[in-house]
Amino acid sequence: MTENSFPMPDFSVADPSATSGIVMQSVCKTFQNKKILDELDFVINRGETVVIVGRSGEGKSVLLKHIVKLLTPDSGKVWIDGQEMTAMGHGDLYELRKRFGMLFQGAALFDSMTICENVGLGLLEHFNMTDAEINDRACECLAMVGLSGVENKLPSELSGGMKKRAGLARAIAMKPEYILYDEPTTGLDPITADAINDLILKLQDELNVTSIVVTHDMESAFKIGDRIAMLSGGKIIHSEKISTIRETSHPAVRQFINGSASGPLSVF
Ligand SMILES: Nc1ncnc2c1ncn2[C@@H]1O[C@H](COP(=O)(O)OP(=O)(O)O)[C@@H](O)[C@H]1O
Ligand SMILES: [Mg+2]
Repeated sequence: MTENSFPMPDFSVADPSATSGIVMQSVCKTFQNKKILDELDFVINRGETVVIVGRSGEGKSVLLKHIVKLLTPDSGKVWIDGQEMTAMGHGDLYELRKRFGMLFQGAALFDSMTICENVGLGLLEHFNMTDAEINDRACECLAMVGLSGVENKLPSELSGGMKKRAGLARAIAMKPEYILYDEPTTGLDPITADAINDLILKLQDELNVTSIVVTHDMESAFKIGDRIAMLSGGKIIHSEKISTIRETSHPAVRQFINGSASGPLSVF
């Protein structure tokens, strides 16, 4: 069976305005004549952790950016808890963004700001808090990710793993309901990567967040995810719960998960 002959899942939702969680509805995005998202439908339920996998350049980061409207679709809609985010003006969008944390690929810390200032940035922008309150919350979040004592350092003074953890502290500072992680463990040694996985699990437990995690790290995916969804050709071609996906009957997903060069996905 080829990738194309496997039945496409149907993620369309009858009434997104009455659906909690995230609904992506027929989302299209083209860059320089290249269609990256192609009428993509997908649903992320509240409280779950969905891992999105796919080959490099398939559009995983682009998909995440649509969820927080850092990118807007050419057509299609994105709904958050029944509110159409794609139709929102600045005021509503500003309010909605407070409920999201995002760990960017590469952490995206500001070089000229201290770690404490980086972590407190969202609080400064979105909340009416004093400097002392912001400082306290930033320290609290840094402690949660095991980074006490680096508050006054600059990002350039931290290792890659520490920068990721600082990025994570920033993502959780606003006590978000949703956290988007873009390759949280990529480029880290296995021990630091596992510490990040444990942190993500702890956040799920303690803050009951809904998480969307983009990763190539299958060990991480199996440890933290409730289900895995695969992006290919601009659509989510398959979604399956973690407990059965190792034995999945979907050929392309099985190939990807097993990291095999032979299968329906071509190597070059
Ligand atoms: N802002 C942008 N402008 C132009 N092209 C972009 C932009 N963002 C992403 N792309 C292109 O979209 C494609 C998918 O990118 P990306 O989502 O980063 O892939 P990945 O699945 O590796 O995260 C790539 O070809 C990339 O060059
Ligand atoms: Mg990416």
